[in-house]
Amino acid sequence: MSMIEFHNVQKYYGKFHALKDINLTIDDGETVVLIGPSGSGKSSLIRTVNGLDPIRDGQLIVNGFDLADKKTNVNLIRKDVGMVFQHFNLYNNKSVIENIMLAPRIVLKRPEEENRELAMKLLDKVGLANKAESMPAQLSGGQKQRIAIARSLAMKPKCLLFDEPTSALDPEMIDDVLDVMKDIAKNSNMTMLVVTHEMGFARAVADRVIFMADGRILEDDSTEKFFGDQPSTERAREFMSKISGH
Ligand SMILES: Nc1ncnc2c1ncn2[C@@H]1O[C@H](COP(=O)(O)OP(=O)(O)OP(=O)(O)O)[C@@H](O)[C@H]1O
Ligand SMILES: [Mg+2]
Repeated sequence: MSMIEFHNVQKYYGKFHALKDINLTIDDGETVVLIGPSGSGKSSLIRTVNGLDPIRDGQLIVNGFDLADKKTNVNLIRKDVGMVFQHFNLYNNKSVIENIMLAPRIVLKRPEEENRELAMKLLDKVGLANKAESMPAQLSGGQKQRIAIARSLAMKPKCLLFDEPTSALDPEMIDDVLDVMKDIAKNSNMTMLVVTHEMGFARAVADRVIFMADGRILEDDSTEKFFGDQPSTERAREFMSKISGH
């Protein structure tokens, strides 16, 4: 089964053609890393997947739901497809554990006891069991991001989308977040689509690497091919040499 299927998808912002003829299939349980220069359409692509942004043309099927169909209820998609953002987007007026318990309580009507138990288990998993009663403002960026990941996991999604989850973090916090993500990729059968320029992460856990430029997918390679034989387009090789220079 495939979790995500793009067929000739076009997306516009007004007259600006942001996603050009996207064809992409991501299977259940796959981990896919999406890279490309700034403005290439990575966030636009990922945001279309859980219905945050509409497409103009083509077909987009996510978890069996047709996103081009106006009758599709995007809330049904978001229940199974979580998203982790660059800037965490925690509820700052709620404690850490409340952040994690909120959506399962409201959307899934999960019983309180069970909800709290799972939240604590997830806090433990991301190494922050001692922060349950803290407020987000009392946490570091890396801790906030791990809470945001735990919050997504609490919905028991089939698919998780990550948009540059470590790019707003200080270097010493990046690995803690990547370790949590690697653990999910290796030890769960969740589908993951991750926009990141952390190539160590890509090498370690990605099944595929996709390279975008100017709203198009230029490369869609297995991780072995992408890092082994070098990407096939000049554009991607140039990009890789730039990011590895940092
Ligand atoms: N809401 C919007 N309205 C108009 N144009 C937009 C909007 N969002 C994005 N764009 C344009 O679409 C193009 C793709 O943007 P997108 O954010 O998807 O790129 P990106 O690859 O995620 O870049 P970055 O690496 O900087 O995050 C850019 O040229 C951007 O200016
Ligand atoms: Mg982006």
